[in-house]
Amino acid sequence: MKGLILSGGKGTRLYPLTYTRAKQLIPVANKPVLVRVIEAIRQAGVREVGIVVGHTAPEIAEALGDGSQWDVKLSYIPQHSPDGLAHAVKISRDFLGDSPFVMFLGDNVIEGGISSLIRDFADNSWNSQIVLKEVENPSAYGVAKMRTDGSIEELIEKPKSPPSNLALVGIYMFDQHIFEAVDAIAPSARGEYEITDAIQWLIDKGYTVFPHVHDGWWIDTGKPTDMLDANSHVLEELTPRVDETALIDEHSSVDSRVTLQAGARISNSIIRGPTIIGKDTLIENSYVGPFTSIYHGCKVRNCEIERSIILENSRVMDIDRTLRDSLIGRNATVKRSSGRPQGLKMNLGDYGTLWV
Ligand code: DAU
Repeated sequence: MKGLILSGGKGTRLYPLTYTRAKQLIPVANKPVLVRVIEAIRQAGVREVGIVVGHTAPEIAEALGDGSQWDVKLSYIPQHSPDGLAHAVKISRDFLGDSPFVMFLGDNVIEGGISSLIRDFADNSWNSQIVLKEVENPSAYGVAKMRTDGSIEELIEKPKSPPSNLALVGIYMFDQHIFEAVDAIAPSARGEYEITDAIQWLIDKGYTVFPHVHDGWWIDTGKPTDMLDANSHVLEELTPRVDETALIDEHSSVDSRVTLQAGARISNSIIRGPTIIGKDTLIENSYVGPFTSIYHGCKVRNCEIERSIILENSRVMDIDRTLRDSLIGRNATVKRSSGRPQGLKMNLGDYGTLWV
C-alpha cells in the first residue's frame, strides 16, 4: 500500500492567510494540517508516500524534507496547474505503479485516524473504498446518492440540490483500475478533472466501490471558520503537556488542560485549556481562554483572547476588547488605538498590522 497526499491547489478560500503560505501548512493545535495527514498515514502502516504539490512546492519541501522525521519516504510530484483531484492521480501514475493506494487530501482532518479503513480495504477485494460523512451543507462537497441496499447509486460534485446529506470525505482508497477511470473522464463544468466523476466511472463499469460512513468528526479546513473548528476538536483530544523548559510565574494560573511547548513563558496571566502555547512564546498580563492555539515566537501582552489561532512570531498587545474566533497570520501585529471596548473578530494575513 502506498500513500498519495494532495497538496497543490489554490487555497483561495483561506485568503488572505494563503497569499503567503500553503493552506495545508497552517497549523491546527500548533501542528500543520499536512503533518497531521502524514502522521495518520504512517500510523496506518504506510511508509511510501507521494505528495502532489503546486506553486507552493518550495515551502512544502522546506517544511517536510524527505519525510524521515515521520519515518516515511516522501516523493514530491509536481502538478503544474491545479486541474483537479483526478488529474493529480493521473500525474502520480509512475510513483504509484500497480500498488493499491490511499489518497488523502492535504487539508482534511479526521477523528480517529485511518488505520481501520486501510485494514478493511486490505482485507477485502474492493476496487475502491470511499468515506462518507453526514453534513449540514452537502452542496459544498461531493455528495453520494445511496440505494436502499447501502450501495452507491450516484456521486455528484457540489450539487445545487443535493440528493442526500452524505458528503465525500477527502480520503479514498483505490487499486490500479482508477487509472482507466481518470483517463476516461472529461473535465467538469468548473474545468477540473473530478475524482468524483472518476469514481462514478468505476461504479458504472461494475467495479466495487465500498462506502464507509464515518461517525466521528471530520473537517475540510477550506475556510477560516473550519480551521477554528478543527483547532477546537484537536485541542480537545490533545493530551496536555507542560515542557520542562516552560516557565510559569507565581502570579499566573494555568489549568490542567493547557499544553506549554519548550521555552513558553507565562507571566501574570490566566490560561484556560484546552489551549496550546508554542515554543518561546511570551504571555504577559493576559487572559488566554479555551480553544486557543498560539504558535511559536509570539508575544501577547495586556490582552484577552478566546477560541483563536495565532501563527508564528506575531504580536498582540494592549487590546481592551476580547479577541475571539480570530485567525492571525505570521509576523502580524495587532495593537490598540482608541475606540469603545467590544469583542473583536478578524482574519489577519501574514505580516499584517492592525490598530484596533
Ligand atoms: O474535502 C472533501 C472534498 O474535497 C470532497 O467532498 C469533494 O468531492 C472533492 O472534490 C474535494 O473538494 P474541494 O473543493 O474541497 O477540493 P479542493 O480544491 O479544496 O482540493 C482539495 C485538496 O487537494 C487541497 O489540499 C488541494 C489539493 N489539490 C486540489 C486540486 C484542485 C491538488 O493537489 N491538485 C488540484 O488540482
